[in-house]
Amino acid sequence: MSEQIDPKNQLNELTNREWLIETKSFWRSMAEERLCAWPDADTIERFGAWLAQEIGEDEAAEALGQLKSSVLESIAPPRDELKATHPATFSERDIGRLIEFFTRRGERVLDPFVGAGSTLLACRQTDRIGVGIELIERWAEVTRQRLEAVGAHCRTSAPAEALTAAALGTQVLVHADAREALAELPDECFDFVVTSPPYWRILRKRGDKAEAERTSRGLPTHYSEADEDLGNIESYEAFLEQLGTVFAHCGRLLRRRRYMCVVVADFRHGPQFHLYHADIARLVEGLDADLQLKGLTVLVQDSKNLYPLGVPHAFVSNIHHQFVVIFQRM
Ligand SMILES: C[S@@+](CC[C@H](N)C(=O)[O-])C[C@H]1O[C@@H](n2cnc3c(N)ncnc32)[C@H](O)[C@@H]1O
Repeated sequence: MSEQIDPKNQLNELTNREWLIETKSFWRSMAEERLCAWPDADTIERFGAWLAQEIGEDEAAEALGQLKSSVLESIAPPRDELKATHPATFSERDIGRLIEFFTRRGERVLDPFVGAGSTLLACRQTDRIGVGIELIERWAEVTRQRLEAVGAHCRTSAPAEALTAAALGTQVLVHADAREALAELPDECFDFVVTSPPYWRILRKRGDKAEAERTSRGLPTHYSEADEDLGNIESYEAFLEQLGTVFAHCGRLLRRRRYMCVVVADFRHGPQFHLYHADIARLVEGLDADLQLKGLTVLVQDSKNLYPLGVPHAFVSNIHHQFVVIFQRM
């Protein structure tokens, strides 16, 4: 396969081989501290040179390409202290990988629930312009500080001025309720949407192991007490309906043929196991927002701690994967 970018490729800056590798239905999402199990870059280079001698350049490149994508490229950097204050973040590395697949440099990316700013950091690292919306001032401030810590310019903007701010080439933070902020933006103004939405009231669950661990470290266990915080809505159905409002706007704001990725894990609530990724897929397809489900990528989080949940009485799953639910605007 050619190592040049295919002139027919209108979506990203990947070669056809790189494109192919990214379509694998699972990616490993490893924590950096577990990295010691994998060889360092020099060892891989020496191994590559040896392999090329043994089986030829092309076959060695093919074999290493596969290895690199599934094992070596998906190692999450350790969470900085500021990021760790937020109770539910995703890895910039995984998001950067999605951004590089679904956009080209200079294009515009929206995250309607930007939290501690991971999407804006990933946009900075990949030379894209991110617009992130966050309801809670504390997390908006964490986003500003994290961007500042890496020397990135971030403008805080009113919703209606977000695109003008983005045109200046910096990351843009909108401190607002996503349902209202998105309503102020014009149709088809983004090239990609990537987000991880609130998890209904799941972070408010008492007696949960993760909650106990965060409480013992003096860290917040949920986003906020605000009524507008979708993570505080009482019923699951009402929560999904409000999420639907946000995703319907996302569909309208996306350019045609472009993509939206929603990163979520399934969860338990009491005795019930919620297939959250499937509920989101059905919700979005039912919105009449021209967003069609195109597939799932499983993010394998094999380096999380195992908790002895239910042992030795009942089966309780340690959920060590997330789904990237991928939609295309038709
Ligand atoms: C799962 S977190 C996103 C974390 C983010 N991906 C990161 O890595 O930092 C969801 C975020 O949505 C925010 N949120 C909840 N309701 C919102 C609303 N109505 N408008 C905008 N943001 C909201 C919460 O405060 C929380 O920070």
